[in-house]
Amino acid sequence: MGNRGMEDLIPLVNCLHDALSSAGQGCSLYLPQIAVVGGQSAGKSSVLENFVGRDFLPRGSGIVTRRPLILQLLNADTVLNLTLVDLPGITKVPVGDQPPDIEYQIRDMIMQFICQENCLILAVTPANTDLANSDALKLAKDVDPQGQRTIGVITKLDLMDEGTDAREILENRLLPLRRGYIGVVNRSQKDIDGKKDIKAALLAERNFFLSHPAYKHMSESMGTPYLQRVLNQQLTNHIRDTLPAFRSRLQSQLLALNKEAEIYRQYSPDDPARRTKTLLQLVQRLAVDFEKLIEGSGDKVDT
Ligand code: GDP
Ligand code: NA
Ligand code: MG
Repeated sequence: MGNRGMEDLIPLVNCLHDALSSAGQGCSLYLPQIAVVGGQSAGKSSVLENFVGRDFLPRGSGIVTRRPLILQLLNADTVLNLTLVDLPGITKVPVGDQPPDIEYQIRDMIMQFICQENCLILAVTPANTDLANSDALKLAKDVDPQGQRTIGVITKLDLMDEGTDAREILENRLLPLRRGYIGVVNRSQKDIDGKKDIKAALLAERNFFLSHPAYKHMSESMGTPYLQRVLNQQLTNHIRDTLPAFRSRLQSQLLALNKEAEIYRQYSPDDPARRTKTLLQLVQRLAVDFEKLIEGSGDKVDT
């Protein structure tokens, strides 16, 4: 989307969401979602928080996110839009009051979200662990074997042992993913305790990539802002791909309702076709706006 950001896309997703909720249950599949998956303390909440740009997610070194937290970016008028899902990390060994089958319970919960075709998966793996054993990548592969909707995110690049780096992973050579990997540096626990804000953290992240000998050649396709651009592009593609089907679904719904209305008009005081017609008009307007938005965007992120 070039230099256009979430600000442009959000009103469209917003409108789409409104249209969908009034169209009823069956349409929820058209609503784009982003789920962040990965092991415990992989940096999932931190990634989401950077994306949202605010400090409000539970975060820490223990198991902080116990239940999925559905985040919805809100506009000033609190209209609902993009759904972000912060999921608990996969726990191998039950602790405290956790049930013995906690691993399977969490896995099921994650699966419920990520098996949906409309769900973009951010598969988060910390750079200081072995990529081949990544819970995130294993889960993603189960539900998205072609890697159509999985983006690899490598966190904690700043915590790698001296003399090692993640260049091979980030260049997509070690365990290639169709959409590749994006490295990020989130705030450390110390940064958080020291109240380093997100703006300062983003600056530090940028400097990290620009100055690191193993990453500076690809610094433009690393970091949180780049991840945001890629997500933005993915969401745009998702809407572009699903809007025509949604439109024709509404069109046929309208046809059917009009037929019905003709037969029962004399018995039924309110015309059920009206609501669908209004909705269809909204979606048609939305499609036009969306085309304009896409046309107006210059440099595309290659995804
Ligand atoms: P989650 O359990 O996957 O949601 O992980 P969190 O986002 O809660 O992060 C766990 C801990 O790792 C927190 O103390 C974070 O500050 C820290 N952390 C996350 N990402 C990074 C990173 O890129 N670098 C450093 N140094 N610390 C990080
Ligand atoms: Na955590
Ligand atoms: Mg978390």
